[in-house]
Amino acid sequence: MTVSKHFANGYADDVTGMDVDLDLLVDNFRQTKRHVAPAEVVAVVKSEAYGHGAVPVARHLSEQVYCRHFAVALVDEGVQLRLAGIDGEVMVMGVTLPSQFPIMAEHGLTPVLAGPAHIRAWADLARERGEPLPYHIKVDVGLGRMGVLADDAEQMAELVRHLRPHARPVGVASHLSHPAGTEEHNRMEFCRFTRFCEVLDASVPGIPRHLAASQAAVRFPAMHLEMVRIGGLLYGLNHIPSPSLSPRPVMRYCTRLGQVKRLPAGWWVGYSQQLQLEKDTTVGIIPVGWTDGLTSYHVGVGSLLVRGIRCKIIGTCTDFAMIDVSGVPDPQLGEEVVLIGDQGGDAIDAIQLGKWAQISTGQLLGKISLRVPRRYWSGSHAAGKLSILGLDFGE
Ligand SMILES: Cc1ncc(COP(=O)(O)O)c(C=O)c1O
Repeated sequence: MTVSKHFANGYADDVTGMDVDLDLLVDNFRQTKRHVAPAEVVAVVKSEAYGHGAVPVARHLSEQVYCRHFAVALVDEGVQLRLAGIDGEVMVMGVTLPSQFPIMAEHGLTPVLAGPAHIRAWADLARERGEPLPYHIKVDVGLGRMGVLADDAEQMAELVRHLRPHARPVGVASHLSHPAGTEEHNRMEFCRFTRFCEVLDASVPGIPRHLAASQAAVRFPAMHLEMVRIGGLLYGLNHIPSPSLSPRPVMRYCTRLGQVKRLPAGWWVGYSQQLQLEKDTTVGIIPVGWTDGLTSYHVGVGSLLVRGIRCKIIGTCTDFAMIDVSGVPDPQLGEEVVLIGDQGGDAIDAIQLGKWAQISTGQLLGKISLRVPRRYWSGSHAAGKLSILGLDFGE
């Protein structure tokens, strides 16, 4: 691989950046695959692979561990993968409308279809194109989101069988409403799904089934079925401890102190007088704000690391945050500040940073815009970079 001058210096020119360890990503994938075998792993790379960068993540999984199934939420996310040369199945799990079907077929994307009107329109397009088009059927077992109701199994089975020469079912999917909830609740939803699948199987046998995402894959081995759709576990964002699976976070997110100054007690910090200092305070100003994952809710609650010392967030704006670095002896301009990751024996994980703002990890990571460059590492070497300037893997 030729190393482009943009990252030949180990990314030293970046003030802020998110480091993604591609070797850990591969390790998490392999662990997950072993855990769910013989079920297939569908790598969920929607929302820029939970902020890690969809194309570099999908490419690496495809090349290094031969991952053949990817899932995104939106049509454009699927097109993005195809334009980057990702082959294998690209499943579009979110809302798709018949008006988008031609572009999906053009790029070989596989929709997860929510009801009879969608399936008929997909079959019509297949007839027009003169080729069968694959799709997954979505069943709503309790989330109240996209999908047919489990009780409609008979009519759906008839429709799927009737349209099969054109619209080719390659999967039947559902999604649990509360995978961290009680076993009883999850078993009830799972039974709704398997009942639907049994009826379908009597008309159209052998369609692969998938319902489990990360939490169910860890908690309920009986729910692995033929495929599992995994996001969080791949990125090391596991909420459920498990003896047989220990995925590690693949991302480290850091910035640098852009100014250090002393403010007197009583001074207000942030827009609309966010927080008033109770005592004289050494304040560090950093170039990450609301566009980069921090929120107003972090103020006074969350902390970031400087030299391994927790520094309270005392103000946030669109492009800046202010932290209390009074506990750091003689803090220096340009010193590293860690938002997610380890430093000096302490660590803050993405789950914690989200919790401080009362948002899920997915919501938090989705807020970190692409103006934070994603820097990829493999075998301790700089491998490439994704930023608003584009994708640079030295190609
Ligand atoms: C339909 C669907 N399947 C799978 C996933 C992956 O979930 P997780 O990140 O918990 O593995 C998601 C994520 O939101 C989803 O919406």
